[in-house]
Amino acid sequence: MYAIVKVLKMMLLFIFVGFLLPSFGLSVENNLTIDEDLEIERQLKLLNKPAIKTIVLRPNSYPDGLFDDDILSSTNVTSIEIGLKDGNTCPSGTVPIRRVSKDDLIRMRTSFKNMKMNPPVKNDETHVQPQWAVHIGRSEELGGLYGVSAFINLYGLPQVMQTQFSTSAAWLVNNLKEDQINIISVGWTVSPVTYGDNKTRLTAGWTIDNFQKTGCQDTSCPGFVQVSKKLPLGIAVTPLSTYGGKQYGLNILVFKDPYSKNWWFRLGKDGELIGYWPNELFTALPFNQIHFGGVVGYSENSKKPPMGSGHFPIEGTNKSCFISTMRYVNVENNFQELELGVLSPHSSLQKCYYVGPYFHQGDEFGNMFFFGGPENCP
Ligand SMILES: *[C@@H]1O[C@H](CO)[C@@H](O)[C@H](O)[C@H]1NC(C)=O
Ligand SMILES: *[C@@H]1O[C@H](CO)[C@@H](O)[C@H](O)[C@H]1NC(C)=O
Ligand SMILES: *[C@@H]1O[C@H](CO)[C@@H](O)[C@H](O)[C@H]1NC(C)=O
Ligand SMILES: *[C@@H]1O[C@H](CO)[C@@H](O)[C@H](O)[C@H]1NC(C)=O
Repeated sequence: MYAIVKVLKMMLLFIFVGFLLPSFGLSVENNLTIDEDLEIERQLKLLNKPAIKTIVLRPNSYPDGLFDDDILSSTNVTSIEIGLKDGNTCPSGTVPIRRVSKDDLIRMRTSFKNMKMNPPVKNDETHVQPQWAVHIGRSEELGGLYGVSAFINLYGLPQVMQTQFSTSAAWLVNNLKEDQINIISVGWTVSPVTYGDNKTRLTAGWTIDNFQKTGCQDTSCPGFVQVSKKLPLGIAVTPLSTYGGKQYGLNILVFKDPYSKNWWFRLGKDGELIGYWPNELFTALPFNQIHFGGVVGYSENSKKPPMGSGHFPIEGTNKSCFISTMRYVNVENNFQELELGVLSPHSSLQKCYYVGPYFHQGDEFGNMFFFGGPENCP
């Protein structure tokens, strides 16, 4: 196992060093250097190799308290059912992975250089992008963090432009060492800069150095082990909430299986296991912060994209994007509610994107907050 992970880490290093090579001699059609072009071809072979049969060890247990109550079963907000059409699952023993094209890799290369899809783990005034608006919970109040769950309201944002992205998510973060900022993120994104279209997609990401040289979104590099035959990371999700109308969302759960130590990602009330990050991938655990909210990115010359539903939190129910029923897994592997008062709001550009107060919205929704902002904020 250790050897595999070592190879994995070396592969990652190689991939990202490849991305950072200086430019010698541009290849014509896409302005890549010849070295970069070869490197991308190599990665494509690696990522799109034929599916092989694998034996997957399912987690042996879930954190205590997960199935105690199903808060959303009593609300008008619906957890969506998504998947490949017509029960069109993969042959037994194989799993679907969104096929990565050369264009995808070139786009991602650009998006990593210019737009770090990270939450605010440190104050870094030199980066004008991305902009974020999140609530943050810290280990000083919560102890070590071994998992997170939440209901993330789901919106379409077709107005996100080619050079932009807009993500609504939950992040597990360890930022205790500046050069080893470990992050897991799960949620949804509209990211033409990554996928080449403006669909709302299920996404997850990881890094061990704040996206400097390691990590990636979905399965665009080794790290996340896709297990679900129905739900590959990067899949477009529907139905989407309508402004002023019916609301939909994702029930996300990330937890550490105490036996295999893998960090599993599960989606939906029926509990589809999407896949896992091997514990050995990470260098600074447990996580010491959880972040909930939105992050957007845009290139310097472009306008700003919308965040959340594209409306300010002040508009409230059925109009602003919300995150509710947030919980975390503590060191005893118990699910804990996030009490009011343990989350603090942070925004990098308050006039354009912000989070509303964390408050209790009756028994139906539990504790929740609204967040976001419109596009083209000056
Ligand atoms: C390639 O470079 C040329 C000149 O620097 C530029 O006009 C063009 O937009 C670039 N193409 C791509 C795909 O980046
Ligand atoms: C949920 O829907 C029912 C009718 O379908 C309505 O009576 C109730 O007020 C709704 N609850 C909320 C919180 O919107
Ligand atoms: C979003 O995608 C649709 C369908 O491809 C397209 O018609 C529309 O122009 C796109 N929006 C933007 C802002 O690019
Ligand atoms: C939100 O929408 C639901 C149904 O779509 C409706 O029952 C409810 O009254 C709405 N709530 C508000 C505050 O508009």
